[in-house]
Amino acid sequence: MYVCLCNAISDKTVREVVRRYQPVSFQQLRHFVPVGNQCGKCIRAVREIMNDEMQNLPLYDEIA
Ligand code: FES
Repeated sequence: MYVCLCNAISDKTVREVVRRYQPVSFQQLRHFVPVGNQCGKCIRAVREIMNDEMQNLPLYDEIA
């Protein structure tokens, strides 16, 4: 499902970027995907997806 219609970015893309690059803030996420840079209506939804995905990231102890 598209979360950012202006840039055609899906929730799947946001989740993939969060898992791969583990941004610590919304601003850092925007370095990887251009969400919220036009109308800004997607910012709240993208933040919620980002927070949800960050909770599901494995802990460092689980990886090592
Ligand atoms: S919907 Fe994301 S900037 Fe417009």
